[in-house]
Amino acid sequence: MRKRVIAGNWKMHKTAAEAVEYTNRFIELSVKVPRSVELVICPPFTALNSVSQVLASHDGRVKLGAQNMHWMLVGAFTGQISASMLVELGVQYVIVGHSECREYFGETDQMVEQKVRTALESGLTPIIAVGETLDVRNAGNAEPYVVAQTRAALGEVGKDYLHRVILAYEPIWAIGTGHNCDPVSANAVMKAMRESRDGLSDVPILYGGSVKPENIAHYMAQPDIDGGLVGGASLDPAGFATLATEAA
Ligand code: PGA
Repeated sequence: MRKRVIAGNWKMHKTAAEAVEYTNRFIELSVKVPRSVELVICPPFTALNSVSQVLASHDGRVKLGAQNMHWMLVGAFTGQISASMLVELGVQYVIVGHSECREYFGETDQMVEQKVRTALESGLTPIIAVGETLDVRNAGNAEPYVVAQTRAALGEVGKDYLHRVILAYEPIWAIGTGHNCDPVSANAVMKAMRESRDGLSDVPILYGGSVKPENIAHYMAQPDIDGGLVGGASLDPAGFATLATEAA
């Protein structure tokens, strides 16, 4: 059986002090979330160290993720963060290919593929985000577009690494808009992602895009949906704990 994962992507929200306050509260609340759901929080880089220390003093129930990383291990890349910097802080997951990075910072399929490889070789689990624009969806091309992104991101990743990958289908038009994709159409795209190459039958695929406590159960009821990548609704610890409980 595939594991269920609920990951909170805080984006550019919360200072380190705010993140520590959140984490202490969320750890308390997480006691009530069934163990079948893996819990991941992805604070901004500046909060990773302090959040990691809070998590380390607990039982490891809540895992730490980063929102991005560079594909090179070291070098002259002003403003960038490497995989080893994340690993040293106790980070286990890293989001790559988020549509905001693709759209605002020119992240290409090729960069995503390199990041996936570096993440895996460094011991991190990449949460690989893919998703189509509204124009692509309206033209009836969502499935082939997302399948192509998935194939490009996974590149030549072999079976020995594939079991550590997490995929996330995030239709761009559904992110932060309140217009979530209906669960049946999301599942159709996610099924196509799963069938896009060998070795993905056990890989968790998360849905992202206006996930809320009120709609997560509808997604989880679909056969190819294994969790959620949650932006706005992850920013309040109580709401996020409720959402994770609904995902069980
Ligand atoms: P949202 O963001 O839940 O606020 O729509 C999801 C994401 O961008 O990962």
